[in-house]
Amino acid sequence: MKLWGGRFSKDTDIWANDFNSSISFDKRLFKHDIAGSTAHARMLNKIGILSDDECSLITNGLLEILTDIKEKKIKFNNDAEDIHMNIEKILIDKIGDTGKKLHTARSRNDQVALDIRMYLREEVSMVIQLLSGLCGTILNIADSGTSAIMPGFTHMQPAQPITLAHHIMAYFEMFRRDTERLMDALKRINIMPLGACALAGTGFPLDRQFVAEELNFNSITANSIDSVSDRDFVIEICADLSIIMMHLSRLCEEIILWNTVQFAFAEQDDAYSTGSSIMPQKKNPDIAELVRGKTGRVYGNLMAILTIMKSLPLAYNKDMQEDKPALFDSIDTVKLCLPVFDSMLGAMSFNKDNMYASAGEGFTNATDLADYLVIKGIPFRTAHEITGKIVSYCIGSEITLDAMNLNEYRKYSTLIENDIYEFISLESCINKRNVAGGPSESSVRQHIKESENFLKNLTIPDYE
Ligand code: ARG
Repeated sequence: MKLWGGRFSKDTDIWANDFNSSISFDKRLFKHDIAGSTAHARMLNKIGILSDDECSLITNGLLEILTDIKEKKIKFNNDAEDIHMNIEKILIDKIGDTGKKLHTARSRNDQVALDIRMYLREEVSMVIQLLSGLCGTILNIADSGTSAIMPGFTHMQPAQPITLAHHIMAYFEMFRRDTERLMDALKRINIMPLGACALAGTGFPLDRQFVAEELNFNSITANSIDSVSDRDFVIEICADLSIIMMHLSRLCEEIILWNTVQFAFAEQDDAYSTGSSIMPQKKNPDIAELVRGKTGRVYGNLMAILTIMKSLPLAYNKDMQEDKPALFDSIDTVKLCLPVFDSMLGAMSFNKDNMYASAGEGFTNATDLADYLVIKGIPFRTAHEITGKIVSYCIGSEITLDAMNLNEYRKYSTLIENDIYEFISLESCINKRNVAGGPSESSVRQHIKESENFLKNLTIPDYE
């Protein structure tokens, strides 16, 4: 019989039963469910609802169930619907009637909210850990690339010279914000909902603060209806994970481009490349492509949960059971992508000569030529026009700005002197951009130093 079967006169239809059951996916919450039940039992003991003996019987029983599940000795049952009732039923079978007291002043509605919060704070901490590993890899690349000049692009057209370190440190900032976003989300996850019961709390004199402390929560939820109805903390994490995937996917896209024969800025390690079943010459960037591809499912999961929640009246509705497959998939996907991506990036080599040669093409130093004229007293808009004409001449003559001789330059402006060549060299284009956050070696070194400190001072909470 069902744990809730008292008022029913027949069994659930077998299809309805399977359809209704969530054990196939929520079984992963077993550890948190047992920890929550243990804290609840201790609290019931503290307020006199369970005797000391009853409390030990229940908590020891739960501990044995935990071990049995870990040792794969337990087979969950669709009939018991979800992880909460499976464990309660196993406990009752194990210790008898005392087990039936555990669910006093509790509902699966506050129980599931608790379990997800406990699961999430653990998983989010792991994602933060993985992100910090990736940030470390990026710092290593940056550290060896502060003078590796490459072209910077806008619209995928050569724009201005930058360095590999400057470019890759842009991603450091993105992943740093992703880390901070998750740290911030943890504040909203780490609030204890138990005591809300079905929706309206309980007449029993529960000590919610005690449960919160037992389970290492910072505080308790403030409204019993909100405690069981909302999943905004799930949506927030799915959004944060989507942003991480978007950042990974952009870097993947660049890695794929850099590894083309046409760009040849980088070379993937063989260990992270794949071949073709027909074309013997191929070395494909499958890992980067797959990470880019998996971004789609993480976005999809976010949309799924937003849509599930959008019209639900308060309080709990069964629709909310559907939050878990989506959430779990996003967590799994990000935890799968981050480490393999990190290793792949760390093993990739950069062809700095090709990057340098490419930076010299496409007139990436044209802005600097215009700036030179500005320094000589010409208004920027006029300098822009003169430089445009010079570029047009160079395109026609198939030469770069550096290859123009002084006589040719002076046809466009007599203010141009021999120091122009030094001024528009790629090295000087970079190193004169000494503004904070800019590409000069010293600016990027400063950024690297601050970023190392950020990683060093990052304290990742441990909820295990
Ligand atoms: N398996 C359910 C879920 O994941 C647990 C809560 C069920 N509550 C209920 N009143 N049916 O949402």
